[in-house]
Amino acid sequence: MEIRIFDTQEEIGAAAGKIICEFTKNNPDCVLGFATGASPVPTYNYMIKQYENGEVSFENIKTFNLDEYCDLPRSHKNSYYTFMHENLFDKIDVKEENIGFLDGNAEEKAESKRYTEAIKAAGGIDIQILGIGRNGHIAFNEPSDEFTGESYKVELTQSTIDANSIYFDDIAMPHYAMTMGIGLIMESKKIVLIATGDKKAQAVYDMVNGPVTPKCPASILQQHSDVVILLDKEAAQKII
Ligand code: F6R
Repeated sequence: MEIRIFDTQEEIGAAAGKIICEFTKNNPDCVLGFATGASPVPTYNYMIKQYENGEVSFENIKTFNLDEYCDLPRSHKNSYYTFMHENLFDKIDVKEENIGFLDGNAEEKAESKRYTEAIKAAGGIDIQILGIGRNGHIAFNEPSDEFTGESYKVELTQSTIDANSIYFDDIAMPHYAMTMGIGLIMESKKIVLIATGDKKAQAVYDMVNGPVTPKCPASILQQHSDVVILLDKEAAQKII
């Protein structure tokens, strides 16, 4: 694990954004895996700036997102599909037909198979962006007794509901989501994980220094050969 610590979220966004933009310049038809939530937003802002400045084109990339809520129409303002369009896809030249998303309202097994096959057909994910939950989750792989494999439907924990329900002002936050499993995430060729703020400090400690255990799903990243972890000082406080 390569760990880099920064002063501001903008610096983290620039560092992660540079990794993505440089790779895309050299590999215009690359496959990028994206996350939602607050952590990657500065990264997406950096990518948008680079695109607006004519430094990079995302015209030929393919994308796959980590997860999507169940029981929520894709068109709802809080769907992850909408989040990605508002925060990135509508502001760069990625083609809509190249955007891969889990359908949180599809039949679980068939949807999981479809997503795995779509990622495989694209050649696998070159760079996967991750955030981390306060409880050590990555994507929506919550702490549990075993590591997960491909995509599946998960019941969200109270910790995740508490963290994300602030975004829901018109309806109650869904309690289920479809998520890529740990096995699928670990197949990504490179992983860039972003964590900021003191609420992530314990999860970051467990990910980096704890035993590899499904009780802290992010700890599996210790076994990946190419992981970059970008932190601010608050998130890094227990490891420095
Ligand atoms: C989102 C996702 C989640 C978030 C995590 C951190 O697609 O998969 O694992 O990355 O919950 O969320 P933020 O960045 O909002 O703290």
